[in-house]
Amino acid sequence: MASSDRAVTATGLVKRFGDREVVRGLDLTVPRGTIYGVLGPNGAGKTTTLRMLLGIIEPDGGERTLLNCPHPRDASDRVGYLPEERGLYPAMKAREAIAFMGALRGLSWRAGRARAATLLEAAGLGHAVDTKIRKLSKGMAQLVQLLGSVVHQPDLLVLDEPFSGLDPVNQERLEALIVGERDRGATVLFSTHVMAHAERLCDRLAIIAGGRRRFEGTVDEARATLPQRVHYTARDTAAELSGLLPSDAAREGDGWRFELPDDGIEALVARLLAAGHGIAGLSIERPRLHEAFVRIVGPEHAAEQPR
Ligand SMILES: Nc1ncnc2c1ncn2[C@@H]1O[C@H](COP(=O)(O)OP(=O)(O)OP(=O)(O)O)[C@@H](O)[C@H]1O
Ligand SMILES: [Mg+2]
Repeated sequence: MASSDRAVTATGLVKRFGDREVVRGLDLTVPRGTIYGVLGPNGAGKTTTLRMLLGIIEPDGGERTLLNCPHPRDASDRVGYLPEERGLYPAMKAREAIAFMGALRGLSWRAGRARAATLLEAAGLGHAVDTKIRKLSKGMAQLVQLLGSVVHQPDLLVLDEPFSGLDPVNQERLEALIVGERDRGATVLFSTHVMAHAERLCDRLAIIAGGRRRFEGTVDEARATLPQRVHYTARDTAAELSGLLPSDAAREGDGWRFELPDDGIEALVARLLAAGHGIAGLSIERPRLHEAFVRIVGPEHAAEQPR
């Protein structure tokens, strides 16, 4: 990959707070024009990593580039950012708050106000154009802040837990906004621990735990780290099958669940049919990203504890 094809690179990033190393030699490459997820349990180091990438805090080791700039702040006008800690000026009207965020990234006030109205309308907040931030609900204010992070049409959008605090309708709107930004040509880097969003959105993802990268690849590659799973229901649901099924087979509802055998399902089906059990139901499924995440992260990192 040519360096111009990478929106973000990090090699060996390290961050210490006191004597505690919370990011421990992290590598990350975000290809341009992709939606990239940073997944990890609470305390994994996601926010710390994003802040280092953006130059809000300095790493204690390693290197990073942002839109090819070795100093992330040089790319500032081409970046949009929704921080984990939300906040807008409560006395500003929604439209002004968005234009103001654009102005901080070099957009003219006039263009910002015009785009803000369009963005609010498209986000279903057309009625709130002239509403003061303090009068908006928490989720609505978060949406306004999100629109403020895209109003200058950044090349890179960095969103830290953007879905938290949004109702299901607004979560869907946000998913559409993220896809729209990618389709416009932007790169979107976001953190989450809600696997359903990541599964639908991410072109690639990194799973981090304990400040280290545990996985990097596509959603399908993450799901393929676990074996496929078979659900089988015999015609006679009470039939005793334990001798015929793989040793990990366990009862589930009327049927059985087990891992897909290494040699596939055909030999097993042949044995079941020969023994007269028939097939009332049979499915082979890849585990969801959620299960892959839990396995990759491991129980010891269910939530990282600050010392
Ligand atoms: N300014 C700070 N001073 C001291 N420790 C910090 C600071 N910021 C973060 N930490 C610690 O660093 C670790 C990683 O925190 P970070 O906020 O990066 O995690 P996270 O993956 O974003 O978690 P979450 O999912 O809860 O947002 C945590 O143990 C946290 O307590
Ligand atoms: Mg965080």
